[in-house]
Amino acid sequence: MAESQRPKLFVCTTCRKAGSDPRPDDEPRDGQMLYDAVSERITALGADAPIEVEPVVCFANCDHGCSAGLIQDGKWAYMVGRIGPDEADDLIAYGAAYANSKTGAVLRSGRPDSLRHAIVGRFPAHLAFQTATVKDAAE
Ligand code: FES
Repeated sequence: MAESQRPKLFVCTTCRKAGSDPRPDDEPRDGQMLYDAVSERITALGADAPIEVEPVVCFANCDHGCSAGLIQDGKWAYMVGRIGPDEADDLIAYGAAYANSKTGAVLRSGRPDSLRHAIVGRFPAHLAFQTATVKDAAE
């Protein structure tokens, strides 16, 4: 799949896993570890990677563990929470199912166990792309 046609997974790098003790400032946050794990796997998959990944600083979903957002133009965009660094493979599997979905909707039964109850919300992806267009035009 061409890189520009892949869904994009945004991973918050400043999240802490729900219920975890704060880490010292010199240790990476759970969100950074999750992003690093996903990024390593995506790089290893190369052209076979079903998604792209990009870091984000805070989705304003901080009380719900590590958070990530999956988006592709023309589909619903989804945010997941209550996850942690161990869910890198599951996020990629979810991203593959999302990529194969016409609307972006992936039923619970089609998501890995760890993500069956992790959806926080969704919005039409075109709203994000319209916002980007408005922002780009202003610059
Ligand atoms: S720090 Fe990750 S959502 Fe706020």
